[in-house]
Amino acid sequence: AVQKTFVMVKPDGVQRGLVGEIVSRFERKGLKLVAAQLMQVPQALAEEHYAEHKERPFFKDLVSFITSSPVFAFVLEGDNAISVARTLMGSTNPAESAPGTIRGDFGLTIGMNIIHGSDSPESAAREINLWFKNETVSYDKSVD
Ligand code: CMP
Repeated sequence: AVQKTFVMVKPDGVQRGLVGEIVSRFERKGLKLVAAQLMQVPQALAEEHYAEHKERPFFKDLVSFITSSPVFAFVLEGDNAISVARTLMGSTNPAESAPGTIRGDFGLTIGMNIIHGSDSPESAAREINLWFKNETVSYDKSVD
């Protein structure tokens, strides 16, 4: 089924100049970019996005990292976009992600793991709503 998924190049990926390389990998795979924004993340948005990790010991560091410098937030659309995007990203811990994946090729530690992607249809819907609240996210949007 055609799905949309939320993806974010984290501050480490933006600072290292990896945005083009990363977007290019998704596009070559056949996923379509349907919304995108380079942005400094407000504290409240970071906390809301990572709400499920609120009680984890790394939560404070995670929020301060995500708000430290701009991220590149975007939405991809395509057949099975959620799991396909996660396959291209590789597993969460870059130390264990396979070569050929984004984290496997560019990451080294779990704190700075380059990229985030929605892990289910529910989180994709929640995250797209959260990050692209006031926008119509659709590739086929007509110009009016
Ligand atoms: P992400 O896919 O954005 O979702 C939660 C994030 O928490 C994860 O990627 C990691 O970057 C971050 N994180 C930082 N430290 C840890 C840790 N010790 N275990 C799991 N996730 C961590």
